[in-house]
Amino acid sequence: MSSPATPFSPALTAKLDRFRPFAAPVKLGQIQFSSKLILAPMAGICNIPFRLLMEDLGACGTVSELVSCHGINHGNQRTLDMLKIHKNERVVGLQLFGEDIEAMARDAEVAESFKPGWLDINMGCPVTKVVSKGGGSALMKEMEKLAPLFEAMRAKMKTPLSIKIRTGWDQDHRNAREIMKIARESGIEWVAIHGRTRTQQYTGAADWNFIEEIAQEKILPFIGNGDLHYPLLVSDRLQKTQTDALMIARGALRNPFIFLESLDPDYAQKKKSDFLGADYWEVIQRLWQYVGETFADDRMLLVQARKLIVWFAAGFPYSAAFRGQVFAAQTAEDTYKITEDYFLSLGTSQKSINYDEAFMSSGHG
Ligand SMILES: Cc1cc2nc3c(=O)[nH]c(=O)nc-3n(C[C@H](O)[C@H](O)[C@H](O)COP(=O)(O)O)c2cc1C
Repeated sequence: MSSPATPFSPALTAKLDRFRPFAAPVKLGQIQFSSKLILAPMAGICNIPFRLLMEDLGACGTVSELVSCHGINHGNQRTLDMLKIHKNERVVGLQLFGEDIEAMARDAEVAESFKPGWLDINMGCPVTKVVSKGGGSALMKEMEKLAPLFEAMRAKMKTPLSIKIRTGWDQDHRNAREIMKIARESGIEWVAIHGRTRTQQYTGAADWNFIEEIAQEKILPFIGNGDLHYPLLVSDRLQKTQTDALMIARGALRNPFIFLESLDPDYAQKKKSDFLGADYWEVIQRLWQYVGETFADDRMLLVQARKLIVWFAAGFPYSAAFRGQVFAAQTAEDTYKITEDYFLSLGTSQKSINYDEAFMSSGHG
């Protein structure tokens, strides 16, 4: 991908720029972030096009989807492609998952050669396929393995190394605090936490009391994550949190403007968005360009773009009918036209989303 992104219209640019002065920069270990709102890793979603788009829309940093150490070891081309970083990405981490200490250390070296801002270890994935081999959140059960793992990886790389954990394996084993202490002694730069246990998967609520309790102890730079679904929630959390930064995953799928809209507390209180259908359409055109330049064929363009397009439509009038049309469309051209017609027809409509309903209740962290 080499051509510069088509500029946003002056009207959209002005709307976006209005929020930027509210961003308070923060330094986590060696890495400087321009605000406290980072895009969380999401498998199948946080690839180059989405990461670029989210940085354009105010995410102060992004993390790749989880990348398999076994895939790297086997020289699997698809896996290696997942380590690629675009030259226009500013602050990006690559996330690795695996369970074998030597392999993880070797792969850290490989991943580092792609020049990420930092590397992250996935210690939160609850998915059985990963956990049954000892990776993801299963690492939280193997406390004695952690220092050797962190140290082996650190020895092979210069880039900062972070970890993303859950609160613990289950309610009776919430050992995030102890893991952070090990991490601190083993050269880990910061810890991000999804405030649920592995057993909870995505049920219940993220436990922000637990997160804030640990944050007060200032063990290591600490990023809180979980259920920050819309600007008012994020903004409230930003006001009162003891954490150093916040990560947002699903919230960005239904509101790509969440990173900016959450920065101004007075605006967030109003619960009315400045961003209308026409603004979403501009954002989708840019996404389309990024996806088209990253994935050569039309089939991949459709697979990658249409899921995001229908998430972006969530909550707007007739979004279910629109989703049906998008998935019925046979070609990229048809999809593009249907999408343009839909978003431009929305006029001044606001989104209406029931945040109590489950949304994307499975994932790799
Ligand atoms: C579709 C999906 C994929 C995910 N993939 C990853 C991943 O690859 N690595 C990871 O650490 N977490 C992953 N997660 C977890 C998120 O980063 C985040 O911790 C979780 O969704 C809670 O944050 P949220 O409430 O803002 O969505 C994923 C979540 C979802 C919904």
